[in-house]
Amino acid sequence: MKQASDLIAEDVQRYLQLQQTKGLLRFITCGSVDDGKSTLIGRLLYESKMLFEDQLGQLEADSKKMGTQGGELDFALLVDGLSAEREQGITIDVAYRFFSTDKRKFIVADTPGHEQYTRNMVTGASTADVAVMLIDARKGLLTQTRRHSYLASLIGIRQVVVAVNKLDMVGYSQAVFERIEAEYREFAAQIGLHNIVCIPMSALRGDNVIESSVHTPWYQGPTLMEYLENVPLEDETLGQSPFRMPVQWVNRPNLNFRGYAGSIVSGAIRCGERIRVLPSGKESRIASIITTSGEQQGAICGQAVTLTLEDEIDISRGDVIALSDAPLAVADQFEATLVWMGEEPMLPGRPYLLKIGSRTLGMTCATLKYKVNVNTLEQLAAKTLELNEIGVGNLSLDQAIPFDAYADNRDTGGFIVIDRLSNNTVGAGMLHFALRRSQNVHWQAIDVNRQAHAALKGQTPCILWFTGLSGAGKSTIANLVERKLHALGRHTYLLDGDNVRHGLNKDLGFSEADRVENIRRVAEVARLMLDAGLITLVSFISPFRSEREMARNLASDGEFIEIFIDTSIEVAEQRDPKGLYKKARRGELKNFTGIDSPYEPPVNPDICIDTCTDTAEAAAERIVEHVLAKLGG
Ligand code: ADX
Repeated sequence: MKQASDLIAEDVQRYLQLQQTKGLLRFITCGSVDDGKSTLIGRLLYESKMLFEDQLGQLEADSKKMGTQGGELDFALLVDGLSAEREQGITIDVAYRFFSTDKRKFIVADTPGHEQYTRNMVTGASTADVAVMLIDARKGLLTQTRRHSYLASLIGIRQVVVAVNKLDMVGYSQAVFERIEAEYREFAAQIGLHNIVCIPMSALRGDNVIESSVHTPWYQGPTLMEYLENVPLEDETLGQSPFRMPVQWVNRPNLNFRGYAGSIVSGAIRCGERIRVLPSGKESRIASIITTSGEQQGAICGQAVTLTLEDEIDISRGDVIALSDAPLAVADQFEATLVWMGEEPMLPGRPYLLKIGSRTLGMTCATLKYKVNVNTLEQLAAKTLELNEIGVGNLSLDQAIPFDAYADNRDTGGFIVIDRLSNNTVGAGMLHFALRRSQNVHWQAIDVNRQAHAALKGQTPCILWFTGLSGAGKSTIANLVERKLHALGRHTYLLDGDNVRHGLNKDLGFSEADRVENIRRVAEVARLMLDAGLITLVSFISPFRSEREMARNLASDGEFIEIFIDTSIEVAEQRDPKGLYKKARRGELKNFTGIDSPYEPPVNPDICIDTCTDTAEAAAERIVEHVLAKLGG
């Protein structure tokens, strides 16, 4: 019988062999527009002879036609292959290039330097071992350099090579190079980047890209290619981390076979080892490991496998398999870093979707603790995160998930944020740690439950959600509806925006962030009232679809009735019952809905009331009929 330590040594050995045959380095290039990224990549491809003849011919022809770089081959033309990019002179999407030398294979993600493309930087960088940071020797460190370095560090790239480019344009000045190097090292140390190599370079002329340059005799370090061929690979360390396999697919072709398929994101596994499935915590042993090359005794990080277990336990897509003695923690509230990429700002309290591994669930940022000024690294108080901003906040998920801190594992600790309505990716983030309160607060089972409350009142509770502009007639109609229901012996309660803002929500104003919180709180209160068995009327402007959707999701199907009081801004302004429109027009009231703050009308309301054709009385009658028909009685 082999000792555990022998097995581990064997695994590492096998792993290193695999790496030797694979020898793949993933890196990204970062920098501002015009720093010369495309030229650099073009040269790497050219020098490693990965260019095909026809591409080369095209390149020469293009270089002549554009007449740019004084007759030399313009490598940027090669990389900026898309004509739209060429016309704009910028690279606009992540492009992956492959090339190889005798020593290694390379995948380079060319991430754009354009300010609004943080998203692509994050996407391209998330699997990289190394970041190549280009700095134009004439310009020195720019905001972009700092932002990209900060992102690289957040994303977990530990090795950075700084290419101080275009050194030919400053007469190969050692002083310029050393000044930039010193400045960069100082900044890098503050953000926890320590493995830094700075190389004086001209990508255009080829200085220190592949071969040492005669123009920089004062530089003794490696050329870029020497660096890339010798820098340690990230996977080498991941191979020794605890075993993690997020289940992507449960393969159950017949009753006799049940396998769990996925990619091993860290560590190694062998047949017979005891495993634990998270979040359920159920345990079993590995019965077999099936790979593309058949059944094997063991598998390691980077491999796609199907595992079968000795016991039949319940496992679904999104669960994570770990070794019993090194399981992941499970939690539903976290501190995390958020990198915002949405055009719309991130608003605390707004519901989003969070995707981690193959699991997607509901998420809100409960509190935003601060945002970071990427130039000074200062932590600034903030209520929202705008496009490209980076902040730290507490996240709350609607289910508990297995996770690792991002610093320990990018796959089980990294996530993206998706907008619920547009389905766009609007953010990316890294989990830091679980909040202790999430482990200590449990749901308390109560005996007198919602069914008992409803039964005693002899009614089916629901939420009647009135939305519309200020002055649309929400409160008037809601008031009539409540009177009618009350007269019919129903148990009701009316939550009115103006009233709730005098108490529970008196700390909130009318910024987008405050309105989101206003609606979040009232939706939660409405849910409690629903549990208490009441027909709950909510009369709030509730201008955003997203929060109305959240309120709907807090209730079960059919319990939430959205009533759109459809009054145009012109009519509401004419009525102006509280004189607020006049004030807003005079500029004395900021962020007034319909004037300088948006209102998003419902797309598919359950009931729509046009207050120009219906009287308040008729509208109330219609709503009551709808409710009684729906709920019975
Ligand atoms: S909501 O947008 O957050 O849903 P809510 O319904 O609570 O608004 O409050 C709206 C009421 O606050 C309006 O009926 C009006 O009387 C008052 N109000 C004061 N300032 C504003 C403003 N800037 N925009 C809209 N309503 C305002």
